[in-house]
Amino acid sequence: MAFSPRSVAVEAVLSAGQLLRERLGRVGEIRFKGAVNLVTEADVASERLILERIRSAFPEHAVLSEEVGASEGATGSRYLWVVDPLDGTTNFAHGYPQFAVSIAFVIDGVTELGVVYQPVTDELFLAQRGAGAFRNGHRIRVSDEDTLLMALLATGFPYDLERRKHALRHFAQFTTLARAIRRDGSAGLDLCAVAAGRFDGFWEPDLAPWDTAAGALIVREAGGTVTDYTGSPLTLESVSCVASNGKLHQAMLDVLHAD
Ligand code: IPD
Ligand code: CA
Ligand code: CA
Repeated sequence: MAFSPRSVAVEAVLSAGQLLRERLGRVGEIRFKGAVNLVTEADVASERLILERIRSAFPEHAVLSEEVGASEGATGSRYLWVVDPLDGTTNFAHGYPQFAVSIAFVIDGVTELGVVYQPVTDELFLAQRGAGAFRNGHRIRVSDEDTLLMALLATGFPYDLERRKHALRHFAQFTTLARAIRRDGSAGLDLCAVAAGRFDGFWEPDLAPWDTAAGALIVREAGGTVTDYTGSPLTLESVSCVASNGKLHQAMLDVLHAD
């Protein structure tokens, strides 16, 4: 039986989301990747479930997933799955119900499919390149806001405590220039909130491809813009990320370049 990448990705995020929902509030063993960077048993269990689904449907495809890294033996493949099995681990570990499962499917370096699932609100964000962005099957669009002072923006901070000091400068600047700022703890969901017009923009200095690959396609397919801090289109190699409704993009880049 032939599987489509879309059906495999959707089934995987829904199953992993159910697993996370069931484990919320009883986190189990926690490991530390850094001073404050956690890995819970749920990250690992969610990842195992997703990778099993992908590998059984597409054994020849390459995988880049947060906890296991890049798959061995598949590096020559044109097809790559980029997986964050639990985006918002800190929230999850504290019982704060804002987290997601994020899967992107990439062909020859171009993201073709992005799926981000919020298991607690049961919101499935999905985009296929050239075919628009959707939340639970309904088309979504970025906001029309063109004035930074009227904008609701979101951001995130690096796990590296030293690098947070630098990020704080931008946080302070945006705080005095925009209506309000949120730091909600899941970059994937922050991007989906930009795509759905809930946030007008988002910036974060240190992100990995599994944080952004799916969400960036969802923002673009919703009519928004996603770049790095220099203004170049976001790629899987990018570290910094700025996402917006497009109208606010230059104003946001100007703030990030002000120092
Ligand atoms: C983190 C979240 C957070 C962001 C961090 C990410 P994780 O992902 O997306 O919002 O600020 O930079 O690393 O570690 O929970 O998968
Ligand atoms: Ca993440
Ligand atoms: Ca994660």
